[in-house]
Amino acid sequence: MTDQALVETAQGMLSYSYAPYSGFAVGAALLCADGTVHTGCNVENAAFGSSICAERTALVKAVSLGHRDDFVALAVAGQGEDYCWPCGSCRQMLCEFAPNLRLLAARKDGAFLSAALDDLLPHHFGPNFFK
Ligand code: THU
Repeated sequence: MTDQALVETAQGMLSYSYAPYSGFAVGAALLCADGTVHTGCNVENAAFGSSICAERTALVKAVSLGHRDDFVALAVAGQGEDYCWPCGSCRQMLCEFAPNLRLLAARKDGAFLSAALDDLLPHHFGPNFFK
């Protein structure tokens, strides 16, 4: 799957977003080595802290299907003029499984930038600290 197609898949998730409080829809699409794509959107809650981001929705869907160390790329699509990079909590969660993940951050018009997760969260805390 091309980066462009992954971004478009993430954009396709915007319509499923449940964001009545922030009004900011986010979509995500996580590509695995076997070619499967696991999608997500942000799902907010009246108890704001219980809300979950689109990236973590996609990640936990994939992990709950058995994916672990086979993540290739993650596209994140927002509705703003700026590129939608993952928040700190999502970066930390993603680092657990894929510190070298390639991220594609898209803005409303579909333009996107690419970066390695490791560059966005250097010196991250991870599973190796328990060895
Ligand atoms: N949000 C995401 O889904 N992903 C991000 O990387 C940034 C923020 C969501 C959380 C919340 O529902 C809304 O965007 C506003 O913060």
